[in-house]
Amino acid sequence: MSNSDNIASARAHSNIAFIKYWGNRDHKLRLPANSSLSMNLADLHTTTTVEWSYALQVDSLTINGAPAGDIPLARVRRHLDALRHRLNTDWHARVESRNNFPIGTGIASSASAFAALTVAAVAAYGAEFEERELSTLARLGSGSAARSIPAGFVEWRAGDSHESSYAETFAHSNHWDLVDVIAIVSRDHKRVGSSAGHQTADTGSLQRGRVECASGRLRDVKAAIKARDFERFAPIVEEDSNLMHAVMMTSKPPLFYWQPLSLAIMDSVRRMREQDALQVCYTLDAGPNVHCICLAADALAVATRLQAISPKIDIMRSGVGGGGVVIPLAGA
Ligand code: DP6
Repeated sequence: MSNSDNIASARAHSNIAFIKYWGNRDHKLRLPANSSLSMNLADLHTTTTVEWSYALQVDSLTINGAPAGDIPLARVRRHLDALRHRLNTDWHARVESRNNFPIGTGIASSASAFAALTVAAVAAYGAEFEERELSTLARLGSGSAARSIPAGFVEWRAGDSHESSYAETFAHSNHWDLVDVIAIVSRDHKRVGSSAGHQTADTGSLQRGRVECASGRLRDVKAAIKARDFERFAPIVEEDSNLMHAVMMTSKPPLFYWQPLSLAIMDSVRRMREQDALQVCYTLDAGPNVHCICLAADALAVATRLQAISPKIDIMRSGVGGGGVVIPLAGA
């Protein structure tokens, strides 16, 4: 072990998918049903410190300074088991994790959390793995965490084995000045989280159709990003989100993440584009909050119009972010 202190901190950003993944072909390895593409969110990140020690009897976890509950602790321990296996150690770890975005905003933190945990744990052990392998390891903790390892606009190749399912940068952070203006509609915890949702993706009749045409949308959205062509980009992103939610709504049991306010926002985004010539489109993850993706120049106008829909809406915003990196020891 080359890191004599066995401790390191890392930071990773949350990401929002333009081409979604939903459903796994292998739940244990989190091999997704289809390849996906996202942008990292510069202003939403998790900072995690990991300390490995032979003297620890068990793994411990704090989130934002408080001991974690049983469910997140069990999930982190499972991920540490996978990392222990790869690092060939039986040591336990002390993990301290902080999100810079408030917990309970309904904004998923599993992507940034498992990416930061993976990078910190590997560095703390003194190992140096290539980005591709860090991405495969992060994927074992949470599928979308694979995309929070590389920087900027990121493609996750579905692959068909642990080694071949990884994410890589498609375009750098400064390639296109996009902003995610997030309309927070509900701060409630999801009744059905992504992990449970992925298990039911195949129970309806629409998933097969969604997956079959996902590679065409991926190709088209990559061409639009490459050309910085928002008019081409917007309808693909909205269609992909609608398709994923159609699959969710027709699964058994059905999953309805949209709320009336989500629909009002989606409608308003379409009108902002068609009537006000704002370069904006919407996409929703497994929750009711609406990510309004727009050109940076339009972000203020978009936020102002969103706020006018209802005082119940809280707004967060972020530009394109970097990848998961080791940082100087954080508050240890
Ligand atoms: C709807 O990566 O959160 O956000 O592997 O169970 O943690 P787990 O699932 P997760 O699924 C996210 C799905 C999505 C779409 C996407 O980001 O591609």
